[in-house]
Amino acid sequence: MCGIVGYTGFQDAYEVVINGLRRLEYRGYDSAGIVLEQGTNFDVAKTKGKVEDLVAISKNLIGKSHVGMGHTRWATHGVPSDRNSHPHISNNGKIAIVHNGIIENYDTIKTMLTEKGFVFHSETDTEVLVNLIQYLMDINADIDFPTAVRYALNEVYGAYAITVMHEDFPGVLVVARLGSPLAIGLGNNEYFIASDASPFVEFTKEAVYLEEGHMATISLEHGVDIRNIKDNVKIIPEVQQLKLSLEQIEKGGYEHFMLKEIFEQPKSIHDTLRGRLLVEEGIIKMAGIWDHLERLNQAQKITIIACGTSWHAGLIGEYLIEEFARIPVEVEYASEFRYRNPIITDKDIVIAISQSGETADTMAAIKMAKEKGAFVYGICNVVDSSISRVTDAGSYTHAGPEIGVASTKAFTSQLTVLSLIALKLGKHNGNLSNQEFMRLITELDALPKKVEEVLETTNDIVKDIAKHFIGAQNFLYLGRGYNFPAALEGALKLKEISYIHAEGYPAAEMKHGPIALIDENMPIVIIAPKQGHYDKIVSNVQEIKARKGKIIALVNKGDTQVASVADYVIEFPETSECFSPIIASIPLQLLAYYIAVYRGANVDQPRNLAKSVTVE
Ligand code: M6R
Repeated sequence: MCGIVGYTGFQDAYEVVINGLRRLEYRGYDSAGIVLEQGTNFDVAKTKGKVEDLVAISKNLIGKSHVGMGHTRWATHGVPSDRNSHPHISNNGKIAIVHNGIIENYDTIKTMLTEKGFVFHSETDTEVLVNLIQYLMDINADIDFPTAVRYALNEVYGAYAITVMHEDFPGVLVVARLGSPLAIGLGNNEYFIASDASPFVEFTKEAVYLEEGHMATISLEHGVDIRNIKDNVKIIPEVQQLKLSLEQIEKGGYEHFMLKEIFEQPKSIHDTLRGRLLVEEGIIKMAGIWDHLERLNQAQKITIIACGTSWHAGLIGEYLIEEFARIPVEVEYASEFRYRNPIITDKDIVIAISQSGETADTMAAIKMAKEKGAFVYGICNVVDSSISRVTDAGSYTHAGPEIGVASTKAFTSQLTVLSLIALKLGKHNGNLSNQEFMRLITELDALPKKVEEVLETTNDIVKDIAKHFIGAQNFLYLGRGYNFPAALEGALKLKEISYIHAEGYPAAEMKHGPIALIDENMPIVIIAPKQGHYDKIVSNVQEIKARKGKIIALVNKGDTQVASVADYVIEFPETSECFSPIIASIPLQLLAYYIAVYRGANVDQPRNLAKSVTVE
């Protein structure tokens, strides 16, 4: 969602801020803006559109300032427009703000300020906040700028990450966070602010991640002064050493981040397994689980909460944990779970899955589960993300930064972590024999190689198949067992980036409704590995063929039965059914990618979508 970049130091603030905004483009946005300190004035440029549109109207600001901030906006209050873009400036022209999140009580404050004579030029909640800061300074002559920001934040509720500048306080940036992430990069005589570390990773490896409910006043003169927003208590910052490298967040020769990330999967899965899966010793070592193994094993039930792709991973997690550990599992959309008063007790385990670790609904669901006494285990990709900090224990997926909005490598790494958890629990509680455990972990260990193979052997084939479906209006994705959630995920990938309507179904459900849609214009992707209800799938394929549907079949190497009926065939290597979604997902990701590319869609930043969904 929205992105913030701020800078104070010796470099050209325009270049730092604009390049930083480019790095945050992946978060998803519809407008962009920048404000620079110009002596005792602000220079502001903002526009609906992309960062490059902003550059086109703001080149005159190059080299003009060493202090500034910028923003990419994902519209919440008010349509994407020049007026609603950030920064917003207070009525007296002295205070500038950029903001991520939502101020829920903005309407009441706006009414109060309007009565006091304030005028609003946008439909945003953000403009209300900046004028509230001005108002508090107007009526309290003795408070300084950071104090006014703090007072204002104590008046609002909702979620925010903000950066604020004041013309009368040159060189000072005031930042605060509640519900939206904000990192402060500590350079040598320069400071950076950003929604994540990617805008400043080339300048410094030292960062402070602002904690929930904290604010900081940053200046070259006084450094970084962190306070608790509520009561102004001084906080000693914990400085983190960034492991992120520039290479990880660049395209590395690929046309899109999504393609790069699809091709990174042999490595990302390997990284997920590294140090955890010790095949020769016959053990799975997971620090996050080890201390809590008994609690996990004694759980009356496990509830998995997540959104989007992570929810699909959760469904496969349900199959894995129930099959191998024999513990009942429920999978819930975090957004539903949190609003429906679910039965959760202190005997329950909740597993929260989130690539970004910032998804607002998942965060809120975790808080609720904790209040009900559950033990919450997190599976996150982003190290030190909000979710990884609020959970009781957890495992990182270690897939590396995922920049493409459509999740690919994070998904297969989530499945890999869930496989490790299920096998570890199953072995520990005796449901899995040693022999079966050894067979499965040997297969798990072989996955990076098989994923490499499937990338090599299917990329060109899938690219070619994709050409035939550029004009498709609808798609059906079918799978059974473990591959039903894989079908859901394949459909989600296609609709997210190509804007083609796509539905995933359990193959057997087809005859209970979706079969009515099938005619010669309906492409149907069917996942049909040898293991896992193959005979039943063969019947489903015949039913589709009889109605002239266009079949794209994902089958194991050497398959003849399904392959002979299908219009297009994609072969992938055999593995146990429980791991087949990991392998089958690769050609599904490629299919969505190539169709979207042929349709000229913006693959990495699909319309309306955001990488971290930090609003509810
Ligand atoms: O960061 P999270 O895993 O919590 O995000 C959840 C969803 O927003 C996310 O998976 C979304 O569906 C992606 N765009 C999928 O490609």
